[in-house]
Amino acid sequence: MKRREFIKKAAVGSAGLAGSFLLPKFLRDEKPISMGNPNFQPDVEIELTALESEIPILPGKYTKVWKYRAKLVKGPPGTIQELKNTYIGPIFRFKKGQKVRIIFYNHIPDKTIVHWHGLHVPQEADGHPRFVIKKGQRYVYEFEIKNRAGTYWFHPHPHGRTGPQVYMGLAGLLLITDEEENSLPLPREEFDVPIVIQDRTFNGRNQLVYLMGGMMERMRGFLGEQILVNGQPNFTLNVSTSVYRLRVLNGSNSRIYKLAWSNGMPLTVIGTDGGLLEKPITKNYIMLGPAERVDLWVDFTNLNPGDELVLKSLAFSGAATGGMGGGMMGRDRGRRMGRGNVPDNGEELDVLRVKITRRVKNSLKLPEKLSRIEHYNLGEAVNKNSPRTFRFEMRRMRPTINGRTFQMTAVAKDEIVKLNTLEVWELVNASGGMGMMGGMMQMPHPVHIHGLQFQVIERTPSIGWETIRDGFIDSGWKDTVLLMPGMRVKVLMKFEDFTGLYLYHCHNLEHEDLGMMRNYLVKA
Ligand code: C2O
Ligand code: CU
Ligand code: CU
Repeated sequence: MKRREFIKKAAVGSAGLAGSFLLPKFLRDEKPISMGNPNFQPDVEIELTALESEIPILPGKYTKVWKYRAKLVKGPPGTIQELKNTYIGPIFRFKKGQKVRIIFYNHIPDKTIVHWHGLHVPQEADGHPRFVIKKGQRYVYEFEIKNRAGTYWFHPHPHGRTGPQVYMGLAGLLLITDEEENSLPLPREEFDVPIVIQDRTFNGRNQLVYLMGGMMERMRGFLGEQILVNGQPNFTLNVSTSVYRLRVLNGSNSRIYKLAWSNGMPLTVIGTDGGLLEKPITKNYIMLGPAERVDLWVDFTNLNPGDELVLKSLAFSGAATGGMGGGMMGRDRGRRMGRGNVPDNGEELDVLRVKITRRVKNSLKLPEKLSRIEHYNLGEAVNKNSPRTFRFEMRRMRPTINGRTFQMTAVAKDEIVKLNTLEVWELVNASGGMGMMGGMMQMPHPVHIHGLQFQVIERTPSIGWETIRDGFIDSGWKDTVLLMPGMRVKVLMKFEDFTGLYLYHCHNLEHEDLGMMRNYLVKA
């Protein structure tokens, strides 16, 4: 009761910080529910439903979850892959150039809407929270697949409710192929493996527990006690002595991973959020913030049946400094209260186990060149001398962007861009300094921009830098970038094809739900 009052008050209080807003006319008279266009000729048509279900996750009692279920109405077989006995999924497989219609039905007892994370689609198809539908309603998405081959995903996007809905199980992968990727000798079929990493907490009756710790936990972001991969605990991947492609998505609400192999083998990266890199790179560890993806080429040919290794998340600092995470509010208090393991962002964890089960001959060789990337040029940005700056910051216990919080259709003057221009944005994690209050406000912000893929051109050091510095992959297309406390990242992006209202926000889902999200408007 107290907590709710606090949030309400804070929401009212924040309006004053907002400055001047413009409300474009088209937003005032648009219809809330998309009915679809009878003239749209889809190559693929899918019925997608969000529903309540019960599934076995832990031994014993079934767990209540929410999940997506899909049915192929039209299109190539293999377009939809349902995963068994899990809430994760389905996996959609699309080809670049396909025209897709997705008829979405809401059967969960909450308002919702689906967002296609990373896709370049018209605003009506982007899953903006202003398009939420109630239980029993439907929303029709129609768009062409314009993105390059890569690992994208989809999840709910209702304002204030994204955290709990993703947590209850709503998330799936959306894989795109194109000719460039098809021409490469990459692992396919059973050797192309989705790895969705999440953290969850279960109670004694095997039910999901979300945010029991009050306002402090909400401000830090939810951290679960257990790691699930593809919705399963203690995930083991049985492999042969072959080459695999692991498509790793951090689907967690707020947990950050520092991925590394237990045997010291380096990680070979072939892709990021927006698809294949130009050429593979190797890393001793990879930092993966919420919503980020990394495509790994993993060569098990030098291992033997019976061998095992673990994909770990190594310890790092900068994510739980001062009084917040692992400090007084987290681990120590937990210990004092007699609980062994209170989760902490930055703690060491096992993510999954790999078991080599059989020997086979496998002839795939890592390609030296993977794809072609058109590199944007800072000199061509319309604002090259004055980047737009967006400060992600806790202010008066509220997560804000340039001092503002989310308002459904509001756009400020510095949030309007022009179609067909290249811009440079400077994203700043303006976390507080040291000391009690400063330390409490130091937290990472994984910043996501809707509607496009961008290029990172600059990244500054941050708090905890020594423990994370080698883990960033900034050479490919990105739609989400992890900003550690004190870090500044410059990105270049082009606003193409579509005008309208899109979102940019922190993908720590608790921060997003608390309002660390804003619209930007692309104007003709
Ligand atoms: Cu993956 Cu706006 O979200
Ligand atoms: Cu998105
Ligand atoms: Cu954040």
